[in-house]
Amino acid sequence: MDTPLSVIILAAGKGTRMQSAKPKVLQTLAGKPLLSHVLDTCQTINVDSTIVVYGFGGEHVQKAMSAYELTWVAQTEQLGTGHAVKVALDKLPKDGQSLILYGDVPLVSADTLAALQAANTHGMSMLTLRVDDPFGLGRIKRDKAGNIEAIVEQKDADEAEQQITEINSGIYCVDNALLHKYLPKLSNNNAQGEYYLTDIVKMAVADGIAIAAIEPEHAFEIEGVNNRQQLASLERSWQGKLIHDLQVAGVQFADPTRVDIRGSVSAGQDVFVDVNVVFEGDCILGDNVYIEAGNVIKHARIGNACHIKPHCVIDHANIGAGVDIGPFAHLRPDTVLSDNSKVGNFVEIKKSTLGTGSKVNHLSYIGDATIGAEVNVGAGVITCNYDGVNKSQTVIKDKAFIGSNASLVAPVNIGDTATVAAGSVITKDVDDNALAFGRARQTQKDNFQRPSKKNT
Ligand code: UD1
Ligand code: CA
Repeated sequence: MDTPLSVIILAAGKGTRMQSAKPKVLQTLAGKPLLSHVLDTCQTINVDSTIVVYGFGGEHVQKAMSAYELTWVAQTEQLGTGHAVKVALDKLPKDGQSLILYGDVPLVSADTLAALQAANTHGMSMLTLRVDDPFGLGRIKRDKAGNIEAIVEQKDADEAEQQITEINSGIYCVDNALLHKYLPKLSNNNAQGEYYLTDIVKMAVADGIAIAAIEPEHAFEIEGVNNRQQLASLERSWQGKLIHDLQVAGVQFADPTRVDIRGSVSAGQDVFVDVNVVFEGDCILGDNVYIEAGNVIKHARIGNACHIKPHCVIDHANIGAGVDIGPFAHLRPDTVLSDNSKVGNFVEIKKSTLGTGSKVNHLSYIGDATIGAEVNVGAGVITCNYDGVNKSQTVIKDKAFIGSNASLVAPVNIGDTATVAAGSVITKDVDDNALAFGRARQTQKDNFQRPSKKNT
């Protein structure tokens, strides 16, 4: 007997103080637009429909959010939070309840929203918090028995009300029937001449409705973004939480303030992460992974006991156990490194598989290649995978040895236990166990006289 749950997200604010050409809700936190944070959180609780109230830059916001199933409502003039919800009423079901959220308050958690919904047993629940500095925010007025009576905005508050430290987050769960009943009755007869959503609290109290209030687990969950400083500080709060969770799970950070996670990281035991490492997308680390300074790791799975030396870029790669990478390696999308393989300095790998125990240790480009087990790829080897129009495949079978500075012109196959001489340009397949030379023969002139400067 779940009542249907709607979400109304207010996102019409222009965000003037960001000094940006971008609508505020498209500014990014942890690499993701503010509004996407809210929408992703809503996807983890059972939301039946989501309405976004938009204003400034609406077409950009809609385009950026096209992956979500949303109902868009325009608020052409920003006449206040109450007005913003009122314009959404047409699209709001008569039954059920609604979470009212903000596109620029990105970090409210699914647990908090679930608790807020559970607390709405009489028609209305809200998220409040006691803070040290309540200036600028709506204050929660309670009667002597502690019941909520009203919300008073900063600009409307008298001396006594200004002393109240319990503030309104602006996030509520309200029965739709009450929203349909109260919103048309809002007036803008207040210090700011705005339609205050907060006035529905007074109306509910007058109807004898007991208003529930809960607090979020973390203060940052209700913090909004109005300027660059707030965005940066909220980013730090979020990073602090992600790092803390990983520390609890057994990850050692050399300095927890010098790592950023723009996405998610899951990690096994005894993982070490040195300074200035950035994770993006979803990253999965096994046990005993050792990551040195300055790495950028994006959408990667890294197996047990891998060692990532300094300054590598690892992007959409799948890495087995016991693999050594770097320093200065670039693993591009669809790189697969099997167990105990090694990729050394100044090596770029793209769309290629390196078999178990194989090594590409120095200065190579490996693209569109399938390399077997126990292969040694010498220094400076290049797979010439591109003829200017098409990409072609290079296949290197188990235990092959590719001498330094060889160019393997794809499509080409190098056989099992084959050897390619250093400096070769290989344009034809090499058979199993064969030795292939593809280079000019060395000639020699004995007793060669070097030219000498003429005396003038
Ligand atoms: C509101 C609350 C206040 C609370 C504070 C928390 C009211 C009257 N006051 O303050 O009690 O402490 O949030 O941050 O509700 N928006 C629209 N259309 C509008 C007006 C606002 O979409 O016409 C959106 C803004 O983009 C923003 C959110 O609503 O995301 C809150 O607006 P803002 O002006 O920051 O809040 P206040 O009204 O000052
Ligand atoms: Ca305002």
